[in-house]
Amino acid sequence: MKFGPEQATRWSEEAYADPVRYLSHRAQLVRSLGPPLEPGETVLDFACGDGRLAEFLLLHGLAYLGVDASPAMVEAARRRLGDRATIEQGDVDGFTPPEPVAATTLFRALYYPADRKVFFQRVADFTEKKLVFDLNPRQYPLAQIRTELAAAGWARLETRPFFVPQTVALPRPLQTLLLAAESARGISDLLLRFRFTYVCAAFRSSER
Ligand SMILES: C[S@@+](CC[C@H](N)C(=O)[O-])C[C@H]1O[C@@H](n2cnc3c(N)ncnc32)[C@H](O)[C@@H]1O
Repeated sequence: MKFGPEQATRWSEEAYADPVRYLSHRAQLVRSLGPPLEPGETVLDFACGDGRLAEFLLLHGLAYLGVDASPAMVEAARRRLGDRATIEQGDVDGFTPPEPVAATTLFRALYYPADRKVFFQRVADFTEKKLVFDLNPRQYPLAQIRTELAAAGWARLETRPFFVPQTVALPRPLQTLLLAAESARGISDLLLRFRFTYVCAAFRSSER
């Protein structure tokens, strides 16, 4: 999909009914799911879009390297973040960071790598702690992804239901209930049969 400059600038505002609630919750899981991230560590965010996620990671002292294939998205992310972060134009299948990173993320973009198994292996080569991504279990069976990750050296997988709706801003009490349901196994399994995604953190057995 091609993005124009205006579309790229408005990406998060149009893609998310409540971008702050959605992206701050995502960022919190990037930091805490699997081996925790520490201030000073770097997150490489593949398919970063307009880089809005960065704002919620920078707040916690993390460094952010965003990579996106779209020149308009790269421009929008650079304008948004200025010298607070590094944004590069690049492809999920080609970009390699100049130095290893603590975490690599891939959100709403699991379908972009040409060969997912090769991608998981490549990321393992330059990622020290974990790979964090979201997954629609109705589209990608969790067991299959777990097997592919293990074959690439990511022996462990922690998953967390993610129940902030993308396109609807819920009243606070309802959203609070849904967040509580993320850790209520029976209810979350049921909801995930019809809607919502997991956030997944893959890591090596020695990391925790
Ligand atoms: C659905 S948006 C997701 C943006 C952001 N990660 C988010 O969750 O809001 C997908 C992004 O992937 C980028 N993209 C598409 N194909 C790509 C590729 N092969 N390599 C890197 N980025 C790609 C698009 O330009 C777009 O910014």
